[in-house]
Amino acid sequence: MAHLELITEAYIDGEVLRLPAGERYDTLNPSTGAVIASTPVATAADVHAAVESSRLAQPRWAATKPADRGRILTAIAQEIRAQAPELARIEGLDTGKPMTMALGDVESTARYFEFYAGAADKLHGDVIPLGPSYHAFTEHAPYGVIGIILPWNAPLQQAARSVAPALATGNCVVVKPAEDAPLTNPILARIATECGLPPGVWNVIPGDGPTTGAALVADPGVRRLMFTGSVEVGKIIARAAADRLIPVGLELGGKSPNIVFADADLDRAVDGTVLAITYNSGQACSAGSRLYVEDSIYEEFTTRLRERLLEVSVGAADEDPDIGPIATREQFARVRSYLDRAVELGGKPILEVKPTVLDRHPDGFYVGPAIFECAQDSRLVREEIFGPVLVTARFTTDEQALKMANESNYGLVAGVWTRDIDRALRFSAGLEAGQVFINNWFGGGVETPFGGWKDSGMGREKGLEALQHYTQVRTTIISVGQS
Ligand code: NAI
Ligand code: MG
Repeated sequence: MAHLELITEAYIDGEVLRLPAGERYDTLNPSTGAVIASTPVATAADVHAAVESSRLAQPRWAATKPADRGRILTAIAQEIRAQAPELARIEGLDTGKPMTMALGDVESTARYFEFYAGAADKLHGDVIPLGPSYHAFTEHAPYGVIGIILPWNAPLQQAARSVAPALATGNCVVVKPAEDAPLTNPILARIATECGLPPGVWNVIPGDGPTTGAALVADPGVRRLMFTGSVEVGKIIARAAADRLIPVGLELGGKSPNIVFADADLDRAVDGTVLAITYNSGQACSAGSRLYVEDSIYEEFTTRLRERLLEVSVGAADEDPDIGPIATREQFARVRSYLDRAVELGGKPILEVKPTVLDRHPDGFYVGPAIFECAQDSRLVREEIFGPVLVTARFTTDEQALKMANESNYGLVAGVWTRDIDRALRFSAGLEAGQVFINNWFGGGVETPFGGWKDSGMGREKGLEALQHYTQVRTTIISVGQS
């Protein structure tokens, strides 16, 4: 296996571009707290150069036959799979993802390219009946250059989720990875170049939010934005997009409810609940972080859950535990502050694991799984913690459960556990969420449209649905002479 070279510079025009000496920041290995790389903060001028490169490449990419675009995306998917162990290792180094999970992320990354490769030549327009005097049809045209701003919790997957549908539909992209997890994105873009993607179609610029991200949002060459991250920054970006009158897709956070009825298959419900709050150390926008259990089984269910979470391993990425470290120092401090103040914030502790990995790696960003019973008005219930911290409460009626589930500013996903199909469908029809899992958590994948209601965002990623968001419709009306 070829050793993938780390790229800690910009990747523009199919080449690594050393940025002029300026501000740089350290990238840390969250498993140990050690510095692994130093990355530059791209300035507005650097960003503009990347956008110009994409703007110049875009007409030819858009004119490339859809089937040929698809063929290049297929090659990218294959090469990602061929490089999976190395990509996963670097992703694990950068984000603390355990190897098994990092490999899962790499496979999802490949799947995005595969899925949208197949979709590239299947985005049909409509013919609109106007009678014999006219012929009218619609086409889905690319926007041009799309600016993509990423968070640090799944850098490869989240890049692919936005880049693949954008490229499949003839757009070019300028991607700004998160300052805390910048390592795999330029490698991915280089793999794409090696698979035949023309220079400039996919550029990557490293940097922070206020300088680099803000410059990308403001650059006149960018015609659409896709942002994944916090609600706070999502609002800043939506405001900036409003000033420029360009569309923006927002994948923001969640505080997703997981509702367990007494008639559920409790083995499956416990498994799903554990997965929902431990996956990626709880750093998933679609984590199941609010658990509502029917009163008659509450004690039994929370006891079983507690026993299961006590068995979960917490460790360094290369130890391949169930739960790796929190990905960034800032986020670690955030999660710790909720844990340290949990009782003050109204949480009654049911479980708080102090991870023993801290004896081996005292400077790593570790938190063990925790459960707190809380009233609905607690900040632990209202705010996204983005760590393996679960809040629980009881309910007695379906109506009460639905009210509690929807009592949130967020509306990303929700889970329902019951053996009663009528109840499941009746109940889920009332949920304010972009995706509902019945008797599973994290079912679906690349194929299933994903995105938030309420503060969880707007627009949709994944599935064929995403293609609508990376294209704009042009309707052509032809007058038919009646001679
Ligand atoms: P953030 O929203 O600050 O960062 C996400 C991205 O936005 C980064 O690439 C950052 O450089 C960029 N950014 C920040 N300010 C910007 C600006 N003014 N203009 C343009 N780009 C800007 O997320 P942060 O601070 O790392 O995490 C805070 C919280 O956000 C977490 O605790 C979690 O609750 C939530 N979050 C949600 C994610 C999701 O998947 N929806 C992912 C990461 C964080
Ligand atoms: Mg931030």
